[in-house]
Amino acid sequence: MKNKTLFECIECGFQGAKYFGKCPQCDSWNSLVEIKASKDERGEVTRDVKAVKLNEIDNLEIKREVTGIDEFDRVLGGGIVPDSIVLIGGEPGVGKSTLVMEVAGILTKRDKKILYYSGEESAVQIKLRANRLSVDSGNILLLTMGTLEDLKSAVEEQKPDYLIIDSIQTINSGKGPVIPGSVSAMKYITAEIIKLAKSNHITAFITGHITKDGHIAGPKTLEHMVDVVLYFQGELRSDLRILRAEKNRFGAINEVGIFEMTKDGLMPINDPSLIFLQHRKSAESGISIFPAMNGLRSILVEIQSLVTESPFTGNPRRISVGFDSYRMSMLISIIEKKLKLPFYKSDVFLNIAGGMTVKETAGDLAAVATLVSSYKNITVPKDLIIIGEVGLTGEVRPVSFIENRVKEGLRQGFSKFIVPYSQAGIRKSLQGTPQVKNMSLIPVENLYDFYKNLTT
Ligand SMILES: Nc1ncnc2c1ncn2[C@@H]1O[C@H](COP(=O)(O)OP(=O)(O)OP(=O)(O)O)[C@@H](O)[C@H]1O
Ligand SMILES: [Mg+2]
Repeated sequence: MKNKTLFECIECGFQGAKYFGKCPQCDSWNSLVEIKASKDERGEVTRDVKAVKLNEIDNLEIKREVTGIDEFDRVLGGGIVPDSIVLIGGEPGVGKSTLVMEVAGILTKRDKKILYYSGEESAVQIKLRANRLSVDSGNILLLTMGTLEDLKSAVEEQKPDYLIIDSIQTINSGKGPVIPGSVSAMKYITAEIIKLAKSNHITAFITGHITKDGHIAGPKTLEHMVDVVLYFQGELRSDLRILRAEKNRFGAINEVGIFEMTKDGLMPINDPSLIFLQHRKSAESGISIFPAMNGLRSILVEIQSLVTESPFTGNPRRISVGFDSYRMSMLISIIEKKLKLPFYKSDVFLNIAGGMTVKETAGDLAAVATLVSSYKNITVPKDLIIIGEVGLTGEVRPVSFIENRVKEGLRQGFSKFIVPYSQAGIRKSLQGTPQVKNMSLIPVENLYDFYKNLTT
């Protein structure tokens, strides 16, 4: 066994043989600390671990535990997969502890045994929260401010079905190769918890803090280790909370769960389109409505743009929130070329209202509509929905899930739809929908065609 000295950045986990005042990876100052690393020349061979043929393994059907919190189950891919490890990341105060406590409350009603570790709140604080959320805490075992070793012996003694670690940043170990609080300590502890959970058939929820400006030290570094990574987002000043899957070994990752934070806990919002639309009395420039797909569910979102004269000649600002900035730049160039509208003197801001994101190319045409609308100071009719991808030559291309998108628009009372020309046949497939009689469908072939429809 060889011992050598290593330096590790406590911000991002960078390791190097030399000390640096500034971390070469994340540029943090004075963040490198010395650690002792041992390096085995050759790892031990575990005699009872043997390779087996894949087809000799029994087919086990996964029986998911459906919590009944629809928004949570959906993001997990249809309920909790037994023995899975779920990481829930989020900014401080967003509601991670609330979510895991509510889930614990449901599971405990089904006679599941839950071990709840908290390293940042006292037992009284947790009890108060459980009371506020009307969680019957009788069967929830609480362990506060302990170490990994305490946790291990509690698991051995209590044999819980579920383990909740709140949060991964607040659990330390007396052993392990590195200093407490560092990224490698967190990785080590997570790996130990995963081993503990998998070998005892325990499902584990682990919460973790992330910071506003980046997720470096936080759960990002743990993502590859766990089965499911959920991020909980929301503006602390508003009550809206969005739960998103960043990684899911058992389901799709484009599902979102939408909640409202109330004094009684997180309330699922079943009709999210209502939340993201303003329902303005009059139309305003720079706004259009787009039915975004989140998994199999369509949610109407408001795309907003602000195009103003730039004070910085030759170097205008291009800022997008919730929309890919490269895609926005590309759309601006297409508008300039095809519609002959010069944007080079304009600052451009594009935003998806309410903290939602639009990652699909199907939102291109709606984004173009807001850009043109703000630039020309014309309004997009407020009963109009715009769907379509825009190609580099200005052609409007077909999109996926057109039927779900149009249906959601109709359901929310919209009657006019601009759609790709090649998908004009959508009316036929919507025949059964009652609102389709009053629907006006405007198929467009290219950007020029679209612009004509928008301005006349
Ligand atoms: N009495 C209350 N009424 C309404 N909302 C409340 C009440 N108490 C707490 N909250 C909400 O709960 C949030 C805190 O939730 P929680 O403690 O679950 O967050 P967290 O993500 O675990 O935070 P931390 O990073 O501190 O662990 C507060 O920001 C607030 O929005
Ligand atoms: Mg908490």
